[in-house]
Formats: sequence, structure tokens, C-alpha cells
Amino acid sequence: MEIIIQPTAAAATAVAARVIARLLNEKPNAVIGLATGSTPLLLYRALIDMKLDWSRVTTFNLDEYIGLPKEHPQSYYSFMWENLFRHINIAPENVHIPDGKAKDIPGFCAAYEQRIRDAGGIDLQVLGIGTDGHIGFNEPTSSLASRTRIKTLTPQTRQDNARFFASLDEVPTHCITMGIGTIMAARSVLLVVSGEGKATILRDVLQGPVTPQVPASILQFHPSVTVV
Ligand code: F6R
Repeated sequence: MEIIIQPTAAAATAVAARVIARLLNEKPNAVIGLATGSTPLLLYRALIDMKLDWSRVTTFNLDEYIGLPKEHPQSYYSFMWENLFRHINIAPENVHIPDGKAKDIPGFCAAYEQRIRDAGGIDLQVLGIGTDGHIGFNEPTSSLASRTRIKTLTPQTRQDNARFFASLDEVPTHCITMGIGTIMAARSVLLVVSGEGKATILRDVLQGPVTPQVPASILQFHPSVTVV
């Protein structure tokens, strides 16, 4: 595990953006796993400014709220198109985001896993962490071997994400998320964490026991993780 500590979120973002730029340079048809939330926002801005060639890149997003239509401003579909995809030359057919309105959710999840396999697996998975140590929406007590599936959001995560909605009641209660096993199958992981509010959980993730109570702690067993 490589841990790169930077003095500011902007400096950390620049390091993380360089990791992705290097991958696209070495492998123009890379498969990249992407996250949403406030942490990757700066990263996506930096990537847009770098004017990289995304024409052969395939992406898979970690998660999506269940019940929000794609066009809802807080859907992760809207987030990704607004904050990254519409600014880069990615082919829309190479973009994959879980469908929060899928009628058959277990069937959709199995197909999502199959699509990742068909794409040759994920070369680099971008991650943030929740204040409870979640990755994707794999909340504490998630199975460390889990695959893409439906999950219930914890009260803490709903509270954390309420800032994006008009009220707490509007925050969805369920989501589709790649599993911890799905994330661990990525060939490399780029975890970006910033802010004092995440210092304690990051210590637990990197130096505490590996436990489903702190889902991101499983990354201690991943052979190729960069933490910025
Ligand atoms: C979102 C995701 C989540 C976030 C985490 C941190 O796709 O996978 O695990 O990375 O909730 O969110 P922020 O960056 O908003 O603190």
C-alpha cells in the first residue's frame, strides 16, 4: 500500500489525477471504476482540465440510489454526466452506472458483474470513504466477499448525504452498490480521502483490524492500493 500525504485537498487531487493520467497513457483502453460524492469532484475537474483521451476508456460506477430516475439532480447518473462525462470524449456506450430504476434488481446486479467481467475486469478503482468506513455503499457489517447487490443505507450515511437533498426524508433508503468482493477484484485501487472529519476513520482503515465493521479496512489485503 502506498500512502501519499499532501498538505491540501488540491495537492492530493493533483497526485490522484496524475495516477489516472498515467494509466490512460499506458493503457488507452483502460477500464476504470468511478465514485461519486464530494471527494472526487475536485479530481474530475482536474481530469477535465488535463484534456486526456477517453475515447477508448470504459467506466463502471460503484453505486446508485434506488428509486431516483436518471434525470433526478441527485442521481449518480446526473452527477457523473454533469461533473465528468459531458466534459470528456468518452463514448456513452462505454459508460456503466447502476440503474436505480431497474425492475429486476438482482438480475440487473448479476448482469452488471458480468459486464465488468466482459470488459476484462477493472484496471483502477477510484474510491472515497464514508465517515463510517464504507466504500461504495458497503456499509459496516457488509460481507467482505460481497458482489453487486441491493443495500440499505445506514442512518449515518443518509444523514451525511442529506446535504445534497432538500430534506432528510428525501434521501433514498436503498441503493445498488458494487460489493466489497467486486472492489477487491480491481487490479489496483486509488483511495482519495481529505478533511479532518475523516482522519479517525482513515486511521482505522489503514492501521486498525480488518473487519466488516470498517469495510474499507479490507484494502489492507489488496496488493495494489494508493491512498492519497
Ligand atoms: C459514492 C461512494 C461513497 C463515497 C463516500 C464518501 O459513489 O462510493 O462511498 O465515496 O460516501 O463521500 P464524500 O466524498 O461525499 O465524503
